[in-house]
Amino acid sequence: VNVKQLHRTGYHFQPPKNWINDPNGVMHYNGIYHVFYQHNPKGAVWGNIIWAHSVSKDMVNWEALEPAICPSEHFDINGCWSGSATILPDNTPVLLYTGIDPQHNQVQNYAIPANLSDPYLRKWIKPADNPVAVADETMNKTAFRDPSTAWKIDGHWRMVVGSRRKNRGIAHLYRSRDFKKWTKAKHPLHSVAKTGMWECVDFFPVSLTGEAAPDASAFGPNVKHVIKVSLDVTRFEYYTLGTYFPARDKYLVDKGSVDGWDGLRLDYGNYYASKSFIDPIKNRRIIWGWTNESDTPQDDVKKGWAGIQTIPRKVWLDPNRKQLLLWPIEEIETLRTQNVKLSNQELKLGEHVEVKGITAAQADVEVTFFIPSLDKAEPFDPSWTNPQDLCGQKGSTVQGGVGPFGLLTLASEKLEEYTPVFFRLFKGQDKHVVLLCSDAGSSSLRKVGLYKPSFAGFVDVDLADKKKLSLRSLIDNSMVESFGAGGKTCITSRVYPTLAVFDDAHLFVFNNGTEKITADVEAWSMRKPNKMNN
Ligand code: FRU
Repeated sequence: VNVKQLHRTGYHFQPPKNWINDPNGVMHYNGIYHVFYQHNPKGAVWGNIIWAHSVSKDMVNWEALEPAICPSEHFDINGCWSGSATILPDNTPVLLYTGIDPQHNQVQNYAIPANLSDPYLRKWIKPADNPVAVADETMNKTAFRDPSTAWKIDGHWRMVVGSRRKNRGIAHLYRSRDFKKWTKAKHPLHSVAKTGMWECVDFFPVSLTGEAAPDASAFGPNVKHVIKVSLDVTRFEYYTLGTYFPARDKYLVDKGSVDGWDGLRLDYGNYYASKSFIDPIKNRRIIWGWTNESDTPQDDVKKGWAGIQTIPRKVWLDPNRKQLLLWPIEEIETLRTQNVKLSNQELKLGEHVEVKGITAAQADVEVTFFIPSLDKAEPFDPSWTNPQDLCGQKGSTVQGGVGPFGLLTLASEKLEEYTPVFFRLFKGQDKHVVLLCSDAGSSSLRKVGLYKPSFAGFVDVDLADKKKLSLRSLIDNSMVESFGAGGKTCITSRVYPTLAVFDDAHLFVFNNGTEKITADVEAWSMRKPNKMNN
């Protein structure tokens, strides 16, 4: 095995080499899924940004095509940055993207397929009437980017473009009749003080009554609207739920749906610049996010690559109407091979039990933990508002009452290295508080150069009647993507083990709380897709 490729993923989206960041223009068109992405064709660090292009029939196997959009014109000569796809009512796709002009200002452009009868839409044309939107005198010309998918109501297209005014994050609203001439609305669709630049703003409706995706232009009593922003300063994504009033293009945030820094998160770990689209084949909304490396740029140059895309996730509204749920697309299950099960596995204080018989470095694991009683849960201190700090203090080896219990992923045989993904329960004021952690602290014996955060999020579940919690982890060499309680809380970690690699990686279930737990575990080895951009 090529030692350089120790931490390359087996079934996540990656090109053969070089840097990648944001997914762009994701769409389904005439039976084919398209993903474009920010790519440096010349190296493993950010720069020379173009739109690379891959196509798929199942979002598992990917074929790399020639780049779709590269710098060539005055309106994009210094870079082709992020953007989105819209499929017009006559069934032609249009890409909106940010171009970097000769003055290094950010402008919005569109591109259309050169040949609609090419099933892969290999070539894209940039019409001469570009750019379609430039910052006016009142706006920040170097903080104006990432046009969204457009939606159409009463004959008017709308799109949002992210920006900031001083430190206020803004989603500027633009309107158009013909998709070519865009006019800025007087008021932004949304803005929040002290949140800094809003990158990759996404705006979409979710259904109040089920998992199916409403049309991108839907509004009214059967839907809620999501605004998702990627905050440049924290490098995390936040979203709010609210109501959209198209007559005045007003967005009203729900009560309790916290806006800004303390808001809801699509993922509490290494996940950024996500982009969603409607899959008409299965009538669902799918969201892709970018996961960066947690090693150094020098490591990336040595490896020859940096950045992966997460497994695409289906996204819909939690029946409690207070948050979104995210779950890996079912197609990924076609990569499952050998399978093992542990039923009713008892886990006493301090125990860890191996899940044997699978390739633990490349696996899909689903566990349900049964909790006989919550009596021993530790008291929750209301000042603990930051889950990541709390996980940092109360790691997997800090004994508790109910929990910590969970998985030890990418573990070496004697536990010199492991990435624990685990729950810990607390007794709160009027209900129990559940914390989910994915802690990279013990993931690698390597001491310097690695970022090893204790990512964590609270899980909003009611344990009053059913005392159980589920956890799924997609493990892929340097990637651990975890989903707590059916997708209520997701956490993605990048880790770089030195011992727990390939066949030397192990998987355990563990409990380090005084309350005895039982677990039902099902795990699968994951094979490589037949095609991954090579
Ligand atoms: C987000 C981002 C976008 C920008 C692109 C440039 O990661 O900074 O705002 O368009 O990446 O590659």
